[in-house]
Amino acid sequence: MSLLEVAGLGVGGAGTPLVEDVSFEIERGERVGLIGASGSGKSLTASALMGLLPEELDARGSARFDGAELIGASERSLSRRRGKDLAMVFQEPMSALNPAMRVGRQVAEAMLLHGTRDRRAARTASVELLDRVRLPEPERIARAYPHQLSGGQRQRVVLAIALANEPALLICDEPTTALDVTVQAQVLELILAGVRDRGTALLFITHDLAVVASVCERVLVLNEGRIVEAGPVRRVLTAPEHEYTRRLLAASEPEATR
Ligand SMILES: Nc1ncnc2c1ncn2[C@@H]1O[C@H](COP(=O)(O)OP(=O)(O)OP(=O)(O)O)[C@@H](O)[C@H]1O
Ligand SMILES: [Mg+2]
Repeated sequence: MSLLEVAGLGVGGAGTPLVEDVSFEIERGERVGLIGASGSGKSLTASALMGLLPEELDARGSARFDGAELIGASERSLSRRRGKDLAMVFQEPMSALNPAMRVGRQVAEAMLLHGTRDRRAARTASVELLDRVRLPEPERIARAYPHQLSGGQRQRVVLAIALANEPALLICDEPTTALDVTVQAQVLELILAGVRDRGTALLFITHDLAVVASVCERVLVLNEGRIVEAGPVRRVLTAPEHEYTRRLLAASEPEATR
């Protein structure tokens, strides 16, 4: 049994379907990229898996995580999993952080929410986690509020929170797009190190084909809500089979062919 088995996943609202018949699997520890043009349904796919679709949309089909169905599961069981078994990092770190709470406490709260650790142990572990995402002077950073940190530092904190409970699957939705180019590479490296260390599976959403090539082993290509191509990242990027993938590659030259 794969860690995640998505079969015939659809997302729609009142009108036309936005994601249709999406099927794929992710093995334990595997890193899978999800690419496609803006509006192709990447974020909605991720939100459906996390049980975080906006109220006006709903999901159909099946997504089994470790054998348990996520689609249509109760909010109670989803919130028990979210941040524990599956965690997510979004594009904009500020949206994931509480502006009024010190960041160390936010990391500790994430652990206390799901774990059995006592407050003191969670505090110590939170500083260790901030150190693990290579924040300088983690003791000091732990006492800072989000607005006192740079964008790159905030995204490191978000990553620390996402990794806090050692999830089996980490979903990253354009995690570095909002960051400076120089900081992007560092944060990417941390994500990669973070998942490799613990054998965490990764679903990585990006427009950037060079990034997908460096981070992922396999890639799914989404076009207008449907997967048009899937395969090993090298094969898909060097010998795309689908016309849409070819266009996507051509549009992103020269980075993808570097
Ligand atoms: N709440 C909503 N109600 C109706 N349509 C929506 C809603 N959210 C997203 N959509 C539409 O669904 C489609 C897929 O959106 P989604 O956010 O998944 O795209 P994406 O691939 O993540 O794009 P981007 O690369 O720009 O982030 C788009 O056409 C979008 O306009
Ligand atoms: Mg998106």
